[in-house]
Amino acid sequence: MKMSKILLPFLVFILIAVNPVQAKDMIVKEPPKSLSKYYPPESKEPKWIQQMHKMSAAFGGVFVNLKEKDFENVDKHADKLVEEYKKTSEMVPEWEEYFDIKAAEEFVAAAKTHDIAKAGKASGKLGKTCGKCHGDNEISVWTKFHWPSFHKIKVTDPVDEKEIEFDKYMKKISSSFKGVTVNFGEGQYGRAAKALKGFKSRYMELKSTCSKCHTTDDVKLFYVGKDAETAFSGLIKELNAEKPNPGNFWKNVGLLGKTGCKNCHLVHRPYSFIKEAWEAEDKK
Ligand code: HEC
Ligand code: HEC
Ligand code: HEC
Repeated sequence: MKMSKILLPFLVFILIAVNPVQAKDMIVKEPPKSLSKYYPPESKEPKWIQQMHKMSAAFGGVFVNLKEKDFENVDKHADKLVEEYKKTSEMVPEWEEYFDIKAAEEFVAAAKTHDIAKAGKASGKLGKTCGKCHGDNEISVWTKFHWPSFHKIKVTDPVDEKEIEFDKYMKKISSSFKGVTVNFGEGQYGRAAKALKGFKSRYMELKSTCSKCHTTDDVKLFYVGKDAETAFSGLIKELNAEKPNPGNFWKNVGLLGKTGCKNCHLVHRPYSFIKEAWEAEDKK
């Protein structure tokens, strides 16, 4: 692990330097089915990622040792790189075309001249094959194999005690939020106060969902933490006041909407959108 920490920035530098992303349109396609056997649950170990680390360590190893003039190890890492590159190219048939075995062999030949400039030059063509596949597929793979699904989560509504799907629960939260703001806008403060009670308990109940995916409680400092508590106290205070102050009320609505709803959506929803599109596609 330690080694990849040192090598990764170097490698990222090579990849970025030789492979600026060019396409303006980005397509997030579901990864090929055959990739699944290299990830949990089908495979115990995340074998695809392990393979990436092997190539990355060998690629970086060539340059570290060229700089140190440790040529024996240059050759070892170079041989290892082609070996692992070839192995990787056979793992996912749908992705075979991303690999350029000739570019890998040319790089090895250049590395073995022990001339760092030649090796650097030849690494460009090989590095591009890595970068092209990453650009096309990394987000998809993260979405598929690193993101749990919100669509499997159910929440018990504290207001009517019914258990419902997460997205339906969101709709309920959204309409109870509107119950508060619409009534306030109409000057119906009594109704707004009543709606706020239900809304607050529904919103805070979201805390129970975090642990479906997160293992530490620290994450609850966000979205459902102190900012949310502060916003709710502010709202309650205004609605209990003899003459509620609209400025304070809307300020707290904004705080909750931004640090609660919006920020949580920015982090969690993009992946959920993508998964939903794939699930709809699968059902067709
Ligand atoms: C856990 C963090 C989180 C918080 C906090 C949160 N949401 Fe959501 N919300 C989500 C996620 C994730 C989805 C997508 C769910 C899905 O795809 O099934 C979503 C979806 C929605 C939807 C769309 C539902 C649908 O069926 O399409 C609405 C509306 C919504 N949220 C409103 C709100 C409002 C209003 C608030 C604040 C009062 C809020 N959310 C707070 C995570 C959150
Ligand atoms: C055919 C596609 C493809 C090719 C070619 C490819 N990669 Fe990858 N690589 C991926 C995917 C997909 C991921 C994301 C894996 C994940 O996060 O689960 C990845 C991730 C990585 C990572 C990050 C691993 C981590 O722990 O997050 C490194 C480093 C890496 N690749 C190095 C390389 C190098 C070096 C090459 C070329 C010699 C290369 N890759 C070629 C598909 C490819
Ligand atoms: C469906 C699964 C899921 C649920 C439910 C969920 N999260 Fe997350 N959340 C993730 C994933 C995946 C990440 C990306 C990094 C990770 O795994 O922690 C993340 C990232 C975060 C981050 C960024 C910091 C970090 O740990 O990476 C915060 C903060 C966070 N979530 C808070 C929450 C809170 C608060 C809740 C409950 C209100 C919640 N999440 C519910 C899946 C989920």
